[in-house]
Amino acid sequence: MNILVITGSPRKGGNTEIMADVFAQAARTAGHTVIIKNLSQLKVAPCIACQYCFTHDGECVQKDDMNSILKDLDTADMLVLASPIYWFDISAQTKCFIDRMYAFGRKGFHIQSIAMLLNSGADNVYAAAEAQLKAISSYLKWEIKGIIKAPNMTEKGSIQNSPDLQKVRDFAVSLKESV
Ligand SMILES: Cc1cc2nc3c(=O)[nH]c(=O)nc-3n(C[C@H](O)[C@H](O)[C@H](O)COP(=O)(O)O)c2cc1C
Repeated sequence: MNILVITGSPRKGGNTEIMADVFAQAARTAGHTVIIKNLSQLKVAPCIACQYCFTHDGECVQKDDMNSILKDLDTADMLVLASPIYWFDISAQTKCFIDRMYAFGRKGFHIQSIAMLLNSGADNVYAAAEAQLKAISSYLKWEIKGIIKAPNMTEKGSIQNSPDLQKVRDFAVSLKESV
């Protein structure tokens, strides 16, 4: 499978990017092609609702890093959203990316499945992120392959010592059978 991973933490090298790197490494070993786009290093502005994309074959009027991400999205079979929990939901950066996927709202998506890698300072803070993922997937008819959660990430890099990192590896390897 071609897998596109979007990381939505502004903190470079933080728990979210570590989760995504571990996922990508295991998925590549399992035979998949993985592209990671770290929003911490890219400029993806909010959608401006102009609907230029609806009459321009999914091209966005805004010229920022979302243009190259849309090219990756157009060939990806699976999307993996990696996000920290901010105020009981996904981060604003992750939401900005999701909003900009509106560009393919009329043209349609190549993506057929999705997964989420979430992490947070506390536990039991994932309800909003999960509800949104389920609603989007239901609307777009994407299969949810998995939602991996890593709570109790109190410091930058906490995840390095967490057993949840193994859950990420196991999840990536489990995708082998569902190519
Ligand atoms: C603005 C902000 C809001 C946060 N809100 C929550 C929250 O609602 N619940 C929670 O458990 N952790 C919250 N956290 C903690 C982060 O989810 C946690 O530290 C996470 O591991 C950060 O990921 P990163 O290292 O990739 O940046 C928040 C952190 C920040 C900076």
